[in-house]
Amino acid sequence: MTTDLDTLRGELLAAIDAATALDALEAVRVQALGKQGAITGLLKTLGKLTPEERQEQGPRIHSLREAVTEALATRKAAMEQAALDARLASETVDMTLPVDGVAPGSVHPVSQVMDELAEIFADLGFAVATGPEVEDDWHNFTALNIPETHPARAMHDTFYLAGEHEQPMVLRTHTSPVQIRTMTSQKPPIRIIAPGRVYRSDSDATHTPMFHQIEGLVIDKGITLGHLKWTLETFLKAFFERDDIVLRLRPSYFPFTEPSAEVDVGFTWKDGKRVIGGSGDAPGGGWMEVLGSGMVHRRVIEACGLDPNEWQGFAFGTGVDRLAMLKYGMDDLRPFFDGDLRWLKHYGFSALDVPTLSGGVGA
Ligand code: PHE
Repeated sequence: MTTDLDTLRGELLAAIDAATALDALEAVRVQALGKQGAITGLLKTLGKLTPEERQEQGPRIHSLREAVTEALATRKAAMEQAALDARLASETVDMTLPVDGVAPGSVHPVSQVMDELAEIFADLGFAVATGPEVEDDWHNFTALNIPETHPARAMHDTFYLAGEHEQPMVLRTHTSPVQIRTMTSQKPPIRIIAPGRVYRSDSDATHTPMFHQIEGLVIDKGITLGHLKWTLETFLKAFFERDDIVLRLRPSYFPFTEPSAEVDVGFTWKDGKRVIGGSGDAPGGGWMEVLGSGMVHRRVIEACGLDPNEWQGFAFGTGVDRLAMLKYGMDDLRPFFDGDLRWLKHYGFSALDVPTLSGGVGA
């Protein structure tokens, strides 16, 4: 019996030592300490021994069990440590390596412009909000006071999702549903911008089926058109990095704002290109539409469960890709989404050029 126990101890400890993976180690544990295990078996025999035999064998078997249990735990800890070391070694990133010409990546103009917009509006106290790109009919249309018969709902504009749903599901056609999502989840006062992808079934030099918009929403007490105009003027001056930006608000119609205004910005011609700035009425100048906007319709405020007599606000929306084209001089929208490295190299931005208001957002 003595030799048996010593042999068993030697075998088990050797097997534990030899195990190179957690499952092999577990197999040894089961073989020794499991229900049918060798040591478990020995422990069961104790009851049948005479008191003298038990006094001699008991401590030996218990010490064997302890030794094996401890060896298993030690080996397991060592394996886990080794796995962690290996992972840490393989995931090492040397943050001190210099960035040189070898780094080929560049920041896409859309990402750059979105960063610039977030920076500009953060300075005005706006947070960034988001919403889903697969949107339901209520958020994309109904809550925004877009009636069933509105042409924007027609199949040729909107991508509908196939299949049975509680209500029609669409790829959002604008970022305005984020207005609804924000007003139904946050208490006013609200100041947010919502940049993101939107989808319309449309395609030519200035339209792609997916493009980017940014929405702005302010809900507070006593908000007027004056606040809207000041905000847009401040934003456009910061974005185009010019003080001589002149805006023209043209009466317009959106179902979710009342009154609604389309916002034009003045430009002049220089070397055959439009340059933003100055009055569009100046000789040789012109006006270019850049934004849709208005005072949030009281029905929209009501749809979100707020009292329109207490809360008012303004909203605006504009195309991010278009803003990028105007600021950085692209004249075709389609290459934005072609992934052509030559285009990206030409129009892309260095990842290290983080926009700051002091350094200029388009540095
Ligand atoms: N959602 C409108 C569009 O896609 C833009 C807009 C947003 C107009 C907010 C007014 C207020 O054209």
